[in-house]
Amino acid sequence: MAFRTIIEPFRIHSVAPLRMTTEAQRREAVREAGYNLFALKSDDVLIDLLTDSGTGAMSRDQWAAIQHGDESYAGSPSFEIFRNAVQNLFPFKHVIPTHQGRAAEKILFTALGGAGRIIPNNTHFDTTRANIEYTGAQAVDLVIAEGRDPTSLHPFKGNMDVAALDAFLTANTGKVPAVFVTLTNNSGGGQPVSLDNLRQTRAVCRRHGVPLFLDACRFAENAWFIREREPGQQDRDVTDIVRDMAALADGMTMSAKKDPMGNIGGWLALNEDALAEQCRNLLILTEGFPTYGGLAGRDLEALAQGLKEVVDHDYLRYRIRSTAYLGEALAKAGVPVMQPIGGHAVYLDARALLPHIAPLQYPGQALAVALYETGGVRGCEIGTVMFGRQADGSETAAAMDLVRLAIPRRSYTQSHIDYVIEVCEQVAARATELRGLKIVSEPKQLRHFTACFAPLA
Ligand code: F0G
Repeated sequence: MAFRTIIEPFRIHSVAPLRMTTEAQRREAVREAGYNLFALKSDDVLIDLLTDSGTGAMSRDQWAAIQHGDESYAGSPSFEIFRNAVQNLFPFKHVIPTHQGRAAEKILFTALGGAGRIIPNNTHFDTTRANIEYTGAQAVDLVIAEGRDPTSLHPFKGNMDVAALDAFLTANTGKVPAVFVTLTNNSGGGQPVSLDNLRQTRAVCRRHGVPLFLDACRFAENAWFIREREPGQQDRDVTDIVRDMAALADGMTMSAKKDPMGNIGGWLALNEDALAEQCRNLLILTEGFPTYGGLAGRDLEALAQGLKEVVDHDYLRYRIRSTAYLGEALAKAGVPVMQPIGGHAVYLDARALLPHIAPLQYPGQALAVALYETGGVRGCEIGTVMFGRQADGSETAAAMDLVRLAIPRRSYTQSHIDYVIEVCEQVAARATELRGLKIVSEPKQLRHFTACFAPLA
């Protein structure tokens, strides 16, 4: 590239205001929210990096596509347009739209799960794990060892540990209805999976007669990393890399709130007829008729257009570079971040920044609260709050205590990100003053969404 500055490959067409608040107002707001950032009013947040899910900016052409939405209950042409756009990238025989990713998971695991079943993944996302466990089945993470080490510079830290998977399938013959691979590995730091690793995973699954499914929310970002990092992939079109990934799998679940650039949406796609029929019947119970499945026709149109935009090389170059820009600036300022920088988010290593806060006093939550109080930046704890409560009721430290700063697609400019960098620097400079928290109430499942905290003295 001839120039150092990354520019957003779009200009702003419509704007939404940000509300400025004072630190005193934010301290009060987060106290009222029980120190749970999910309980804040988003008007009280200045830069919202809670998630990249459904928070992106749609394009002019997506808004135009919305006008084409056909809201027929059955057989809508909007479904055809959607299915064609999905199959152009993921040529699975059956495409079943759902209102978001977890609805696809719920349906698939209702069909495949149940007591005694086990479903491996590189790393299950929290809703995936919860939907599996809800059926009585077990969810197992088999990412490579480098994927659990925040300092390892392995280019594909999302890779499946293929030898461990092979041994696992040998030891659990007949109990594994499907193997999953999450692209990119969100819970493991937004880290990509290589094509070579997918091929090897595929070969192991074949040998054991177990189908392979992709949790493909961030497939385009994963494909861009493959293009940048995997030998022999440099001159390829991302669309072809995506098709290669799809060709190695038997099906997929999808949250269209990520790379497909939707504010809502998802799908389940697969090749096997009998399983597809079972899933469609479950879909009708909870989501809707198979040609809209929990979405409006206009949503299907917006997603079809989003799928065309997300594989654009200028977009992906900007997307991955601008996430790295945030991560690299923080690393340079001495803020510990998970390396290498992931696709959709930068993960701050709260355990490394706050060694004086024990994991069961939630260093990730303490850091996330401090970023909000200091600068109105909302991130998300991915650590002991999210993963610490065990199925038997005990509590243990998660593998890592991270704070994820997820970047909504096409929503913030470089100056917003420069501001985030400053806020992180200020918080890091007074890290020793931060205190841990205790949980004062929590629900049985997915506690991070609704738990209430109190700061420790
Ligand atoms: N799988 C992965 C890898 C995800 O990151 C998500 C959602 C889902 C499945 C579920 O999709 O939200 O549409 O039901 N991740 C969001 C996040 C919520 O913030 O990372 P959904």
